[in-house]
Amino acid sequence: MEPLKRGDRIALLTSGGDAPGMNTALRAAHKVGAALGLEVLGVEEGYKGLIEGRIRPFTEFGGSRALDDASRRGGTLIGTARSKLFITPEGQAKAKEEIAKCRLRGLLVLGGNGSLTGARALDGALCHDGSPLRVVGLPASIDNDLAGTALAIGVDTAMNTIMEACDRISDTALAHQRVFIVEVMGRDCGYLAMTAGIAAGADAVLFREGGKTDEEIVEQVMRAVEAAFAQRKIVNGKEGMGRRHCLIIKSEGVRYDSHKLKEAVDARTAGRFPDVDTRVTVLGHVVRGGSPTAFDRLLASRLANVAVRALHAGHSQVMAGWAAPWAGGASIAPSPFDPHVTLRPLDEVLAETAKMHSGASDLVRWRVRALSEAEPVMVL
Ligand code: F6P
Repeated sequence: MEPLKRGDRIALLTSGGDAPGMNTALRAAHKVGAALGLEVLGVEEGYKGLIEGRIRPFTEFGGSRALDDASRRGGTLIGTARSKLFITPEGQAKAKEEIAKCRLRGLLVLGGNGSLTGARALDGALCHDGSPLRVVGLPASIDNDLAGTALAIGVDTAMNTIMEACDRISDTALAHQRVFIVEVMGRDCGYLAMTAGIAAGADAVLFREGGKTDEEIVEQVMRAVEAAFAQRKIVNGKEGMGRRHCLIIKSEGVRYDSHKLKEAVDARTAGRFPDVDTRVTVLGHVVRGGSPTAFDRLLASRLANVAVRALHAGHSQVMAGWAAPWAGGASIAPSPFDPHVTLRPLDEVLAETAKMHSGASDLVRWRVRALSEAEPVMVL
C-alpha cells in the first residue's frame, strides 16, 4: 500500500478491559501522527462507539493537554467497552459504513485478544474512495493474554500492584501466622499470577494452564502450608520460628472457587495446625487501575510509535509486539522503526494466542514447566 498523505485521517480505538499505559499510547500515537502530518481522531468507547459513529477530534477529549495528563493515569481517556453488537455481521457492517463516512484511512486498535480479533474482522473494510482501510493492533491487556509480544501494555503496572498488595498482605499474614489465598485477574492466562508469584515470593502459584484437579490444587497448597508452618530452623543450636506465614497466589482462570479452596484447606489444617487460619483476598479490578509504571509508559510509547509509522507506511492487519523476535522456532525481523518492536500478521498472532489459551503453545508449556520446577524452591 502507498504511504498516507498529509491530512489523511486515522483513528485510535481502545477496546475491552482497560490497561494502565493505554493513555500513554494514545498520547504517543497522537504526537507521532501529528508529526507525520496526519489528522488523528479518537473513537469513543471502542467498537460500540465505532458502530454509532462516535469518532471525534481529540480537541473534544480535551486536546493535547488532556492527553498529557491522562498519560500519567490508568484507564482510557476515550473510553472502552465490550461490544456484543460488533461480534455480529450487522455490527461489523455498520462499523465499516461509519469508517467510510468519517473518511478514515487507518485505524489503530488497542486491546487484548477480543479487541484484536475485532481488528481482524475489519479486514476488507474500505475507505470513502474505495481504497482498503489499514488496521494495526497494539497489545494492551493486564492479562498478557496475547502471543506475538513478550509483554502487553499494562502488565508491568498490574504485576507491581499485585506485588505491593502481596507484600502488605505478607506483613499481616506473618503477624497472625496465616495462610493467605490471593486471587488475581487473568481469565484465560495465568501470567500475572505466575510472575507476581515469583516477584512477591509466594509459597505456591495456582494457574489454569497447570491443568490440576481440585484435589491436586489442595495438595499443592498443603505442601506449601506444611513447609511454612512445620519448618523449624536451628539457629545457634536453638529451635527457630520458621516462616510462619504462607502466601498462595491464585489466578482467576482456575475454576476452583477461592472460598471453597479455603474450606478445603481449613479442613486439612484444623488437626495439623490448629492455630493457623486461612483468609482469602480477591484483588479484582484494583489491579487494573492506577498510574502506569515507567516501563509501561515507555512500552506504550514505543509500540504506539511503531504502530502509527506502520499505518503511515502502508502496513495493515499487523500487530506491533515487544521484544518477541521468536515465533514457534522461526525468528522474526525487527520492525524498521524500532529494533525492539516486531510487526506480525494479526492472523498469526491470533492463531498462536488460541494455542496459548488451550495450553498447546511451546511458550505456555515452558511457563508451566518453569513454575513447577520452581515449586520446590518456593516452599523451601
Ligand atoms: O482485562 C481482562 C480482564 O482483566 C480479565 O482478567 C477479567 O476476567 C476481565 O478483564 C474482567 O472484566 P470486566 O471488567 O468486564 O469485569
